[in-house]
Amino acid sequence: MADYDFDVLVIGAGPGGYVAAIRAAQLGLKTGCVESRATLGGTCLNVGCIPSKAMLHASEFYDHAANGHLAKLGIKASGVELDLDTMHGQRLDAVKNLTGGVEFLFKKNKIEWLKGHATFESADSVKVGDRTVRAKNIVIATGSSVTPLPGVEIDEKVVVSSTGALELAKVPETMVVIGGGVIGLELGSVWKRLGAKVTVVEFLDQMLPGFDGDVRKETNKIMKKQGLEFRLSTKVTGVKVDGGKATLTVEPAAGGAAETIEADAVLVSIGRKPNTDGLGLDKAGLEVNKRGQIEIDHDFRTKVPGIWAIGDVVPGPMLAHKAEDEGIAVAENIAGQTGIVNHDVIPSVVYTMPEIAGVGLTEEAAKERGEVKVGKFPMLANSRAKTNHEPDGFVKVIADAKTDRVLGVWCIASVAGTMIAQAAQAMEFGATSEDIAYTCHAHPTHSEAVKEAAMAVTGKPIHI
Ligand code: FAD
Ligand code: NAI
Repeated sequence: MADYDFDVLVIGAGPGGYVAAIRAAQLGLKTGCVESRATLGGTCLNVGCIPSKAMLHASEFYDHAANGHLAKLGIKASGVELDLDTMHGQRLDAVKNLTGGVEFLFKKNKIEWLKGHATFESADSVKVGDRTVRAKNIVIATGSSVTPLPGVEIDEKVVVSSTGALELAKVPETMVVIGGGVIGLELGSVWKRLGAKVTVVEFLDQMLPGFDGDVRKETNKIMKKQGLEFRLSTKVTGVKVDGGKATLTVEPAAGGAAETIEADAVLVSIGRKPNTDGLGLDKAGLEVNKRGQIEIDHDFRTKVPGIWAIGDVVPGPMLAHKAEDEGIAVAENIAGQTGIVNHDVIPSVVYTMPEIAGVGLTEEAAKERGEVKVGKFPMLANSRAKTNHEPDGFVKVIADAKTDRVLGVWCIASVAGTMIAQAAQAMEFGATSEDIAYTCHAHPTHSEAVKEAAMAVTGKPIHI
């Protein structure tokens, strides 16, 4: 590689990029990674998965202590106070620990971190600050950023993106969340638990697009019970900020009379868009599709030989674990191995309480492909959920009516995010619902509900 500075140069050190870099280095390839942020780990570790879970975890404890849930267990907690600074402090500690951990792994694996913004100069050379480097293989893993709402200026004080919503210095009395997707429900829950009156404005007639229909309906019920308000089939047409307060103009999605809503904070969470600005894709001979994504083939190759792309910048769900798995696979492909990601089995989890999780097809999508059998089991009938006073939710197993092969599994349960892993593994192994039903599950666990839902596919659950 006489002329090349690197065998592999990864652009972006999020879960896609940093994992690709580590795997490439593990495979003996000379690897560099360009990252413009002051710390490694990308959106996920710095302003996404990790800090949001730190706030979800802490706010849940506060909710339990402040709102009488602990009292129901015989634990009297009087004088419960919110110390928001400390709560933010533990969030920042989690971020620092994990981003520092990635930096340690880079050093351990002898990966060079090129600090700065990468711009292609040609198909095999990239400029970072004053330095131009050449690489035999370049992996674009530049991730995504918040989709702006036309006419709404995000000032990260009153009108915030998810990043600002993680850092609010005080609990707003009222908060409007624009977009009832994953971020809206997670961060809306955080501030609701900490005392804000939260209204979610969603353009569609139901929240969580892409999730199973039953799950979306049940989520609506549960979230309403928790005190979140929903304005479905409603669009925001403008937000004005004056004296630290926002006035939103909303109207029915289908058109109609406009009205206004006042709020102390507005969260814009209407999706995310791939990051390709300033990347100089044209110099490399690449372009983006209509959705701003870089197109790839099954092996993560772009149309330009030697340039690969993974994670949020390519089509598919914008999820950290999808990006990580693609990171491993792309490095293995570059090294001449066979790196594969099964995009049909990517779990998706919303970390509300209860958690909402799914893998594979929704019932609606499965029915479009053919005849299906569906088994459902309520958490209310699961002994562990009952004992823990967690009655909300269900597990649903969708199987092919002829072959019994599991096509999709959906869960709403306190630990749905953990339960869904067994469903994903079963699906990876091509399991039938009977395979799950006849697998011995430990008692008493929430996971027994997966077994019973699988039993319900053929009509034989025990506990209902
Ligand atoms: P990113 O993590 O976005 O990383 C890309 C990196 O590239 C960034 O650090 C950026 O600075 C850098 N970069 C971009 N362009 C350049 C350039 N030209 N030069 C140098 N560097 C560049 N997913 C989950 O699976 N679970 C969750 O719980 C979850 N929670 C989330 C919560 C929030 C609030 C948000 C916003 C997202 C969440 N996500 C979650 C989504 C997850 O963060 C993304 O899917 C994941 O980070 C994508 O990884 P990536 O490597 O493709 O890109
Ligand atoms: P999203 O795509 O999940 O939800 C956006 C919502 O906004 C949709 O319900 C959509 O119908 C609605 N919407 C769009 N335009 C609107 C408008 N003008 N007015 C009102 N509603 C409108 O996007 P979100 O929540 O911003 O998250 C972005 C990405 O980040 C997601 O794709 C998700 O994959 C990822 N993420 C994942 C998490 C997890 O895995 N737990 C947590 C947070 C984010």
